[in-house]
Amino acid sequence: MRILSGIQPSGALHLGNYFGMMLPSIELQDKGEGFYFIADYHSMTSLFDAGLRRQNTLDVALDFLACGLDPKKSVFFRQSDVPEVCELAWLLSTVTPMSLLEKCHSFKDKTAKGISPSHGLFAYPVLMAADILIYDSNVVPVGQDQKQHVEVTRDIAAKFNEQYGQTFLIPEPQIRGEVAKVPGLDGEKMSKSYGNTLEIFGDEKTLRKKVMGIKMDSRTPAEPKPDAEQNLAIQILKLVAPPAEAQSIEDRLRAGGFGYGDLKKALFEHYWNYFAEARTKRAELAVNLDYVHGILHDGAAKARTKAREVLKRARQASGLE
Ligand code: ADP
Ligand code: TRP
Repeated sequence: MRILSGIQPSGALHLGNYFGMMLPSIELQDKGEGFYFIADYHSMTSLFDAGLRRQNTLDVALDFLACGLDPKKSVFFRQSDVPEVCELAWLLSTVTPMSLLEKCHSFKDKTAKGISPSHGLFAYPVLMAADILIYDSNVVPVGQDQKQHVEVTRDIAAKFNEQYGQTFLIPEPQIRGEVAKVPGLDGEKMSKSYGNTLEIFGDEKTLRKKVMGIKMDSRTPAEPKPDAEQNLAIQILKLVAPPAEAQSIEDRLRAGGFGYGDLKKALFEHYWNYFAEARTKRAELAVNLDYVHGILHDGAAKARTKAREVLKRARQASGLE
């Protein structure tokens, strides 16, 4: 089984990225062959600072490796080191109905947020389809917001197969219900573009300030909170604290006599501890960049071998060869 996913180097990675995409990808490493990549081509649709892209790309590599991506088990690479995906994206674009792309909410959401509506942004799902199809991927672990893109990929693959004969495998999205949409500090979906994130590797002071700043209602500590499970801090706590500990805090909040200040302090402590090991690992990697570049280099070579094979199949099927 081939598992594939990508993440854009468009800013510091956060808890939503971690639970929605990174952890599922890391856990799937033992279930098949993982192909994981840094989607730097995709980042060009919304980030126009070359230096920042370079820096973010390295940061994503460090973050992902520190969190447990194991280069002995998985292939880890930079998207643009496999330029064959761009050629495949072209082939796919010729069988992609405009109406399919017009339906995609990510384009509408992004332009509504002020990102300029370029052709690249509109065609984003076609490049994503090429990313997935070029490695004969079976499973694509992503958060809920990427589900539509995987469905578009399935449609494009089916169109191509229909037109030119069986060429591509049809992939399945894998979305974990409990973390499909991790809430941000304001209760909306946690997202880089909403400024409501908890960074995985943020500094202690900033993270504590963010956690202590989570808005709560005006009930006093003494008051029982029968709706404790809906509390945002409790929801995030459940992700990062041992289940029994999270349950006990939730029970205390429900019973009354436990204030929001104490709740937020507990959340921060658990959050900080949850990533302690990864932080140490990241610091080690950060002074060993040759090793990190080596991993990406070797990963690209492996990915490219597979990509060339599938691209050749598509070229032959469509009469280019
Ligand atoms: P952002 O919304 O911060 O820009 P991306 O679009 O770069 O995040 O998402 C990268 C990956 O992380 C995708 O697989 C996406 O589904 C997942 N993801 C992002 N935010 C969340 C979230 N709040 N909950 C669950 N998964 C998320
Ligand atoms: N669009 C994805 C995101 O913003 C990133 C991505 C690019 C991707 N190509 C992919 C994810 C292929 C899964 C498979 O998060």
